[in-house]
This record gives sequence, structure tokens and C-alpha cells, in this order.
Amino acid sequence: MSLPPSVVAVALDEVDDRWEAALSEHERVIYRSLSLEKRRRDWLGGRVAAKRAAQRQMALPFPRLEVMAKADGEDRGRPELYVDGVLASGFLSITHSHGLALATYGDTPVGLDLERVEARDHSFLELVFTEPERARLEALPAAHRDQAITAAWCRKEAYAKLLGLGLRADFELLGAAEALSFVQGTLQFGDATLCWALVEGKEAA
Ligand SMILES: CC(C)(COP(=O)(O)OP(=O)(O)OC[C@H]1O[C@@H](n2cnc3c(N)ncnc32)[C@H](O)[C@@H]1OP(=O)(O)O)[C@@H](O)C(=O)NCCC(=O)NCCS
Repeated sequence: MSLPPSVVAVALDEVDDRWEAALSEHERVIYRSLSLEKRRRDWLGGRVAAKRAAQRQMALPFPRLEVMAKADGEDRGRPELYVDGVLASGFLSITHSHGLALATYGDTPVGLDLERVEARDHSFLELVFTEPERARLEALPAAHRDQAITAAWCRKEAYAKLLGLGLRADFELLGAAEALSFVQGTLQFGDATLCWALVEGKEAA
């Protein structure tokens, strides 16, 4: 699997209730309130991936690391790391798709996304791409189109996560920003081809 070294992957079919031991008390309450099996697995797998990513910078046991979704503000939902109950200075991003959770933690704002390569219809393209972007994507040979569209969408979602906006972002306005570094690629997981995108704020010069 080709992923940047800063990204941690967790296969979600390994995740079960025994992994609850990785959670803080507060996280456990949230986990137990989730009723859908898929959501429970995604949520828990994402937290374990995030804590493993954070452990690369701080050698602390899982329960001392807590990942909480920001409760309010324009970037509500953004995952944040707490160490012993205190908000950490780093930046976290989590994504899950088709049996895989990815997370990264670093010193600069970050956005990470993972999407399965699949056919997307014209109405989807109209919603998330500008006219020139759509024209370029729709002109591609059929054999490459689905992957190129998924990669372009994945990149926008990663950027929207860096901004903390998620689906609240105006996707038509999300182009490449100069102060950011983007990397992206594909990986094979089971029978699925998945696109991933990682966008990071560059250090101030
Ligand atoms: C961020 C968002 C685009 C992710 O959607 P997705 O591509 O379907 O899902 P992914 O698996 O790639 O990402 C999910 C993760 O994004 C993160 N996330 C959620 N909101 C976020 C935000 N505002 N900024 C950055 N990251 C966010 C979370 O860590 C979430 O995983 P978790 O809930 O298990 O911790 C979507 O959740 C969103 O738009 N959220 C903000 C809007 C909102 O509040 N919607 C109500 C949701 S109930």
C-alpha cells in the first residue's frame, strides 16, 4: 500500500469492541452511544489510527490521548487531539472508506481524504466542479475518467477538511492554493481501488 509515511492506516475488519481499551472514558461514552455497526467501526478505527499517528510524536499510551470533534464554530466536526485533557498544538485529520481508516497528525493544518473509485454522474460533477474542471474531466478517455474524477473530488474534500469546512465548503471555489502542499495517489484494498489525498499547510517561510 503506497501512503505517505505520516499517514497511519487501520483495516476496519480488525476493529471490534476489544479496541475500546484504546479509548478515554469520555470517548467510551461516545462510542457506546453509536448504534450503527458501521459507524461504530469507522469511528473507533479512525480514533485508533489517529492515536497511532500522534504516538509518532509523543510516546504516550492510548487512553491519555483523546480525539474529540470540535463542538462549535465554523469548523465544528473537526477532530482535535487532547493530551491528558489539554488541547494539543498539532493538527489531525481522519478519513474512512470501504474498510479502511486513515489518519495523520502533524505541526501544520492538514486534510486527509479517501474515496473509492467509482462512476459518478453528471449531477455530481455539476455540484462539485467548475465548468472548466468539468470539461477537462469529461473529455478524458472513459478508461481513466472515473479515477480522475474521484482523485479530483478527493483532493477537494481533503482541502475542505484542512479548512475545517467539510461538506459546508463551496467545492466550486476549492482550487489549488499556493501555500499548501498536496500529495495524492491510489491504493488497492480488497477488490476496491481507493484514491487518497493529503493536503498540508506549509511552514511559514
Ligand atoms: C468532513 C466531511 C466532509 C467528511 O465526510 P466523508 O468524506 O463522508 O467522510 P470521511 O470518512 O472522509 O471523513 C470523516 C471524518 O472527517 C472528520 N471531520 C468531520 N467534520 C470535519 C470538519 N468540519 N473539518 C475537518 N474534518 C472533519 C471527522 O474526523 C470524521 O470522522 P469521525 O467522525 O469518525 O471522527 C463531513 O463529515 C462534513 O462535511 N462534516 C461537516 C458538516 C457537518 O457538520 N455535517 C453534519 C454531519 S452529521
